[in-house]
Amino acid sequence: MPLFDVYPLYKVTPVSGKGVHVYDDKGAEYLDLYGGHAVISIGHAHPNYVKAITQQVETLGFYSNAIQNPLQRQLADKIEALSGCKNYELFLCNSGAEANENALKLASFKTGKKRVVAFSNGFHGRTSAAVAATDNKNIIAPINAQQEVTILPLNDIEGVKTELEKGDVCAVIVEFIQGIGGLDQGSTAFFETIDKLCKVNDVMFVADEIQCGYARSGKFFAFQHYNVTPDIISMAKGMGNGFPIGGILIHPSIESKYGMLGTTFGGNHLACAAGLAVLNTIEEEVLMDNVNAISEHFFAVAKTIPQIKNIKGRGLMLGLEFDFEVGDLRKDLIYNHKMFTGGAANKKLLRILPPLNIEKEHIDQFFEALKVALITNNY
Ligand SMILES: Cc1ncc(COP(=O)(O)O)c(C=O)c1O
Repeated sequence: MPLFDVYPLYKVTPVSGKGVHVYDDKGAEYLDLYGGHAVISIGHAHPNYVKAITQQVETLGFYSNAIQNPLQRQLADKIEALSGCKNYELFLCNSGAEANENALKLASFKTGKKRVVAFSNGFHGRTSAAVAATDNKNIIAPINAQQEVTILPLNDIEGVKTELEKGDVCAVIVEFIQGIGGLDQGSTAFFETIDKLCKVNDVMFVADEIQCGYARSGKFFAFQHYNVTPDIISMAKGMGNGFPIGGILIHPSIESKYGMLGTTFGGNHLACAAGLAVLNTIEEEVLMDNVNAISEHFFAVAKTIPQIKNIKGRGLMLGLEFDFEVGDLRKDLIYNHKMFTGGAANKKLLRILPPLNIEKEHIDQFFEALKVALITNNY
């Protein structure tokens, strides 16, 4: 049976991974600067992760949300301790889109309203409300288009004010560092004014931390670079280091009711074990310090390469902008230098989203390869 052909694939077949490297079916080693799209947070096959998942699956891999599952509480407590987000409540699900879908649903339940404000170049997932809040017409089917969403330019403070004062908006959803859109960031005034406008207009402020969160920006959540208090924080990607898990942190002003949200798989024992192993490792290996140190080194080296026109992002959510499209450069880096990098909606941007425990020597290897690739491709 053929696979439904929705992904343009590189001709490489990784079969194993260790740390910041993956290995293909012919035994070639690749440096993973893409982290499977910002998913690999603590590195491939980290021993803590392998041990936690192995022990859990040998004990109890799954049971439904109809019973007590102390692992969910442990995960909630650990997220609270590491993020410093006190007093939020945790709901667990399976993916980023599902986290945002539940976030928008809760915002609508809480306010009784239904219009969402989102921003240009934003990406929030592929389920109904999440995709409608995504600025990409190609992935919005007619069934999704019935959602009421207003997309405004990033930094359009006046636009947000005008829309929220109309009184029918339930949520403003924002990525504090845009991922697939190309690593743009709103200004401090923009984020902090949205926070205030939401509070005076009974609108839920949803921080989509699915890509920029979980220590990748150099703080636990990217919104923590600003003085804001989101009502709902959505998480996924790096949360499980590849194990499918997502979640939302919900401010206690949003009251829970039985049956309001639910999922079969979300928060299962195996997912919680993976999630706990990730957080324990972020803590034990002081990975946020590593993110900041490596990021500083990355910026310093990138600045010395004249073909790089702009360095974007924060922490280990980084982008290098050129004055040419980077598709061929990415292929050259994969096939000739054995390095994975990421692309973006901005075709001139090379994205770097490595595991959070990457070392300086790997960054140096990347820049040496990049310099050679730039010369051989006559850029
Ligand atoms: C910012 C952001 N939100 C939501 C999503 C959707 O996550 P998922 O693919 O797990 O549904 C993504 C995925 O790339 C993302 O980057």
